Amino acid sequence: MKLAIVLGTRPEIIKLSPIIRYCANNQLDYFIIHTNQHYSDNMDKIFFEELGLADPQYNLGIGSGEHGAQTGKMLMAIEKILLEIKPDLVLVQGDTNTVLAGALAAAKLQIKVGHVEAGLRSYDRTMPEEINRIIVDHIADWLFCPTDKQAKILLSEGIAKEKVFITGNTIVDAALHNIKNINQELLLKHNLKEKQYILLTMHRPSNVDDKNVLAKQLNNISRLAKDRGLEVVFPLHPRTLKNIQTFELSLPGNIKIIDPLGFIDLITLENFAKIILTDSGGIQEEGCILGVPTLNLRDNTERPECVEVGASKIVGSDFDKLSRGFDFYNQEPNFKWQNPFGDGQSAAKIMKICQNDFKL
Ligand code: UD1
Ligand code: UDP
Repeated sequence: MKLAIVLGTRPEIIKLSPIIRYCANNQLDYFIIHTNQHYSDNMDKIFFEELGLADPQYNLGIGSGEHGAQTGKMLMAIEKILLEIKPDLVLVQGDTNTVLAGALAAAKLQIKVGHVEAGLRSYDRTMPEEINRIIVDHIADWLFCPTDKQAKILLSEGIAKEKVFITGNTIVDAALHNIKNINQELLLKHNLKEKQYILLTMHRPSNVDDKNVLAKQLNNISRLAKDRGLEVVFPLHPRTLKNIQTFELSLPGNIKIIDPLGFIDLITLENFAKIILTDSGGIQEEGCILGVPTLNLRDNTERPECVEVGASKIVGSDFDKLSRGFDFYNQEPNFKWQNPFGDGQSAAKIMKICQNDFKL
């Protein structure tokens, strides 16, 4: 039996790396289709290299574009490969346009689909990811949920319980596997001191595609950092960089912009940060896993576990919520929580289910 893994963006490469490693170590018959939705070296190649992944067998070179054009090109190119190679199972992870195209191409060809990180819902359909998640969950045959919360959501949407598995999130596997390689010397390179800086990431269209919202977020964060005497380090996603340039925004002086980082460097900066401000899905989870609080620069989350265990607060673009959230964690430096996303064995759990059902 043959397995195809479809991926295309930074978080998919990271979160599928434990599954790819499992396939390689167990000599499974698998291959990787990379849509190349992300293609800049620091959004793509760096992760294959540092996570020790072999180059994908197929690189579709799709790149950026409007949703329809980008997804349509992926669909056509993936279908062609699936028709030729005829895998028995296609695995996708998460909620990007790559995930939608991979799952749809396979489902239409009656090839079984496994969705890793299934069942997440923000209940905000202005997010492109929410639309992708809903469609993929409803056409997938195996749904691998991080916690029981997503399993309940899927059952409430009428998905058969035989398809639904609670496996934890593979980000725990990836974080625990790579945290042993972090090196505090990175702080020197960026002129940062342990627990005296804020790590900021922001790339959601709702925050960065509107000039006024983006300017407001940056001003709020700069004001918070100035009031509390902290530095801000901001590895800049290419969408955000493009918009800052298009809007001709000047960055507040106390926000230090750096290029996107590799995974090990990013988790290093997370680990030693006083607090993380982010609108990223994966970074909310990593803060929760590494014991560093996050303030979520959105009005909702599809990862409510982070808030419920106390690792995160939703602050949107409101300065008062941002500053209250910061003060809560600042006054409670020893505040601890349990990581709800599993024990770091998610990839093995997922692959054992696939092996059982597919004799991979
Ligand atoms: C995509 C996903 C989002 C995910 C994010 C992870 C969708 C709809 N969105 O958003 O869910 O959270 O990836 O980072 O699938 N660009 C580059 N180099 C690259 C990639 C992008 O310069 O390697 C620039 C281009 O100007 C492009 C823009 O970033 O237009 C946005 O890229 P795109 O892949 O469309 O969406 P992301 O914002 O990266
Ligand atoms: N990440 C990284 N370098 C960076 C920023 C993020 O390696 O400069 C990692 C981060 O640790 C997490 C993942 O990329 O594992 C999150 O990706 P992103 O925020 O782009 O997407 P999302 O998770 O929101 O879909």
